[in-house]
Amino acid sequence: MTMSRPRIKPLLTEPQIFARVQALGEAITRDYAGKETVVIGLLNGVYPFFADLTRAIDLDIDVSFMRVASYGNGMESTGEVKIISDIDKSIRGKHALLVEDIVDTGLTLHKVRNLMLDREPASLKIATLLNKPSRRRVEVPLDYVGFSIEDHFVVGYGLDLDGKCRNLPYVGVYTPA
Ligand code: IMP
Ligand code: MG
Repeated sequence: MTMSRPRIKPLLTEPQIFARVQALGEAITRDYAGKETVVIGLLNGVYPFFADLTRAIDLDIDVSFMRVASYGNGMESTGEVKIISDIDKSIRGKHALLVEDIVDTGLTLHKVRNLMLDREPASLKIATLLNKPSRRRVEVPLDYVGFSIEDHFVVGYGLDLDGKCRNLPYVGVYTPA
């Protein structure tokens, strides 16, 4: 049975996402060859992207996760970023790649990036599936971007609305009633 989702209009299909993620994986494979690399996922939203992206990287990488919360609930950012759980390994002297589902205001990555830089990695880059440049409040350098999108609230492929819709296999625009 397929659940009806009348408020969600498809934006990025599964094949589109798949093709783009493979291309990002190939670029990362080229750029990180021969480097001791830790790929860090920001939970929860990153989980499908992280699984697909890391499997598209043809290198012997290490993975770790950090859990952050930036949205109180609903569709507006609280502007407050909380680290709920930290990565479980040292990145000192290693090449760290932060992976995020979407960069909106930039506040989350700004904070996480500074925290990571304090730990003195050999390099620090950022990969994000989606980018909403029109919403930026603080600049963050993005090295690998899947898709830049308009100012829409999107759900699916990890992105949630109050914890729901993360398991949709595609990305859709959510329109409130
Ligand atoms: P930022 O700190 O404003 O850049 O927001 C980053 C976080 O906000 C992401 O990791 C998402 O959890 C959430 N977010 C931002 N835009 C959306 C959206 O369109 N749909 C779902 N979550 C979003
Ligand atoms: Mg979220």
